[in-house]
Amino acid sequence: MSPGKPLILVTGGAGYIGSHTVLALKQAGYDVVILDNLVYGHRDLVENVLQAELVVGDTGDRALLDKLFNTHKISAVMHFSAYAYVGESVTNPAKYYRNNVLGTLTLLEAMLTASVKKFVFSSTCATYGIPQFMPLTEDHPQNPINPYGASKLMVERILSDFSAAYDFKSVCFRYFNAAGADPNGKLGEDHNPETHLIPLVLLTALGKREAISIFGTDYPTPDGTCIRDYIHVKDLADAHILGLEYLLKDGVSEFFNLGNGNGFSVRDVIETASIVTGRDIKVLERDRRPGDPPVLIGSSDKARKILGWLPQYSSLTEIVAHAWQWHQQRHR
Ligand SMILES: NC(=O)c1ccc[n+]([C@@H]2O[C@H](COP(=O)([O-])OP(=O)(O)OC[C@H]3O[C@@H](n4cnc5c(N)ncnc54)[C@H](O)[C@@H]3O)[C@@H](O)[C@H]2O)c1
Repeated sequence: MSPGKPLILVTGGAGYIGSHTVLALKQAGYDVVILDNLVYGHRDLVENVLQAELVVGDTGDRALLDKLFNTHKISAVMHFSAYAYVGESVTNPAKYYRNNVLGTLTLLEAMLTASVKKFVFSSTCATYGIPQFMPLTEDHPQNPINPYGASKLMVERILSDFSAAYDFKSVCFRYFNAAGADPNGKLGEDHNPETHLIPLVLLTALGKREAISIFGTDYPTPDGTCIRDYIHVKDLADAHILGLEYLLKDGVSEFFNLGNGNGFSVRDVIETASIVTGRDIKVLERDRRPGDPPVLIGSSDKARKILGWLPQYSSLTEIVAHAWQWHQQRHR
């Protein structure tokens, strides 16, 4: 730990978005301690790339948290750790409520005890449910249609109640589809199992998968496939630094969407990937999956206005190219 630099606790810092944010925090001059149970995180990236202190443990472990807060002078917490497989949350909701809600509540209570009062939270556009208008703004009704989205909405509610009851401030970021990789090739997306479209397409281009499935080709969209809002992970990381600085300057608790503002269809992604990689990508057309809205696009005007967030990488080609750079070296 270096004297004078605020120390930030990053839960889930060995995961995809958390690791990119740790890199951005270090580049912005913050000290970082990561708490990750490594169920899905990558020790090698923390040790070799991030070179940050790693505490291997669980947000549900109160004794461990108390020790962590007692031995580190933490200024704020960025909370990325959660389980995030929507399908699994439907078949095993207990796992999601335990980790995403109880684990978070345990962390929040430990923060209160330690008088750490600034919290940046990874929420999701899945808290909105079926869109009633587009683009989705922060005041869109929140009616999640799966336990994963519900678990994140419960935490949002807990955070609002904490703000009202205690001297506790939070920023909730509702991400759309996080995508891409560190533009310098140091980090990238490595979920296992992988369910996100861009890495699945690139793994197909690499020959690690037979084909990419398109679920539904008869949606009311220009090419019949679903449209989603892909936001570059580096832009997400930068938004977190702005959110943190907003809180450290005594900003009030707020909710912000973080999206690209542009939608890209499944076919757009596959075509862009075959241009970027120069490879043929085998496609299988399948039936629609239940619960997939045709279009999901977010408005991030509020984050731009209040936080001064200026995303740098909104083109799909750049997002896919950065992800491809990472995948080629990770899966050599
Ligand atoms: N990836 C997306 O597109 C997306 C979209 C919206 C919201 N989010 C949210 O952003 C956050 C980060 O997502 P990601 O894609 O980086 O996921 P990820 O799985 O790569 O990272 C999560 C990390 O948290 C760790 N973890 C999980 N439970 C833990 C616990 N109880 N204690 C300690 N560590 C724990 C995992 O080991 C992993 O390293 C999640 O909260 C997710 O719900 C992600």
